[in-house]
Amino acid sequence: MKVTPVSTALGADISGIDLSQPLTDKQLSELQSLQEQFEVLFFHHQDLTPLQQQQLAQQFGQLLEYPYVDGYTEAPYVVEIAKLEKDKLNFGGLWHSDSCYLLQPPALTMLYARQLPPLGGDTLFASMTGAYDALSSGMKAMLQNLTAKFSAGQSGGYGVREFRQNKNLDQAPRSSTHPVIRRHPDSGKLSLYVNGAHTSNFTDMTAEESAPILAYLYQHQQRPEFSYRFQWRVGSLAMWDNRTTQHNPLNDYHGHRRVMSRVMVVGEVPLGAH
Ligand code: OGA
Ligand code: MN
Repeated sequence: MKVTPVSTALGADISGIDLSQPLTDKQLSELQSLQEQFEVLFFHHQDLTPLQQQQLAQQFGQLLEYPYVDGYTEAPYVVEIAKLEKDKLNFGGLWHSDSCYLLQPPALTMLYARQLPPLGGDTLFASMTGAYDALSSGMKAMLQNLTAKFSAGQSGGYGVREFRQNKNLDQAPRSSTHPVIRRHPDSGKLSLYVNGAHTSNFTDMTAEESAPILAYLYQHQQRPEFSYRFQWRVGSLAMWDNRTTQHNPLNDYHGHRRVMSRVMVVGEVPLGAH
């Protein structure tokens, strides 16, 4: 395996591995430690059926059943994320962490590019450990004691998934309370966990009281030095630590088709700073 860091914020390109084949124990533990170090891993020239993508993810842990969209028949945990020629909205088109309104949000998301527009459709990734580290000691101390409400309905008015959902929403979990500063269970690193797509308010504070602090944190966490812009090629796979990063897929390719497939690995109930 060859490892090439892609930015100072986060991310590394990994080559010399075929993800369609079962990983050896050594490869798996190497990838897990690279994941911890770089937060997002990028692979290229991979040739994966949905079933192979599912089998890849299974080696990293228990798979998460996404409550909103049905998976492929042959690989039920793998969901197609597509924007078609006629679509105006893209899926998840704002800064977010995946499914953080669940009690146990995904630890890991693996997104694979099947069809891409001629230009555009990049995805921004940002390190929330970087964002946390850059806060003042006073802000860190204040945030450490807070939890917040994360909800599925809160999507900044972008309607990020409603236009594609095909499952009964009444059955899906809608919100959870999580720490604002999250501790990674293995590395112990702290990260800033709130995000503009899903966080509605701090626990025991109103939405109005929370808003100015959240607005500050959102603009802080979106500072360019914490982020990296990834340009996909067909056959690229990105594997992100969904606990310590956020991402934002750009919606800049109207009239073209972009088809991705996604699988997620279940995480722990988020741990607080203490
Ligand atoms: C997602 C998502 C990003 C993209 O699938 O969770 O945010 O680039 N997609 O499509
Ligand atoms: Mn997402």
